[in-house]
Amino acid sequence: MDTKYIVANWKMNGNFKLVQQYQDFFSQHVIKHRVVVCPPYPFLDQIQHDRYDVGAQDCHFEINGAFTGSISAAILKKINTQYIILGHSERRVQFNETNALVFKKVNAALDENLIPIICVGETLQEKEIGQATAVITRQLEESIPITQKKLMIAYEPIWAIGTGHVPSSEDIERIHTLIRRLYPEAPIVYGGSVNKTNIHGILNIKNVDGVLVGGASLDVSFFETLI
Ligand code: PGA
Repeated sequence: MDTKYIVANWKMNGNFKLVQQYQDFFSQHVIKHRVVVCPPYPFLDQIQHDRYDVGAQDCHFEINGAFTGSISAAILKKINTQYIILGHSERRVQFNETNALVFKKVNAALDENLIPIICVGETLQEKEIGQATAVITRQLEESIPITQKKLMIAYEPIWAIGTGHVPSSEDIERIHTLIRRLYPEAPIVYGGSVNKTNIHGILNIKNVDGVLVGGASLDVSFFETLI
């Protein structure tokens, strides 16, 4: 199998013990794939390791200024962050992030030469009424600026996140192939209920360049299956 991307999204979870467990594990093992670890902001500096890259889970679209509680791509760059997850459905739904806002954040990340991991995906209702392709195409077109710089796209069906439900291989391949046609250069990862058992099957699907893993990445033993 080619080298794939394994992006660990801790969301608002984890602690210094988990940071230490990641560092110990990766000091002792070599993973066959490219790993990107995305813990909450306070752990970004401490979790650095030469066997994986580090990513944030969001950023503000301005470089600096009076934006209490926010973090800019410029600040993230200074603490050696290489990636930023942007437009995750939890931000789109819980914080009303629109495609237009995600677009600005993606530009901010690219300006700092950080690699944005732009998330798109349909709701269950959109899937059931046959709107998935249209919704995803629109999210892509409106969230991603025209650029020569490197970016990554994550297909994350909202109904698959944290639910234990995963789309069929055919459905994953169909959406990834659609994204590939629009963005031939960008790695495309799948996210939503990836675990130790289903990861190998998912990584073998055509046009899947990796996975974005939430809950399962909170136990570093998840990576044992990738040694
Ligand atoms: P999950 O989350 O693996 O817990 O389903 C994935 C994600 O939201 O990125």
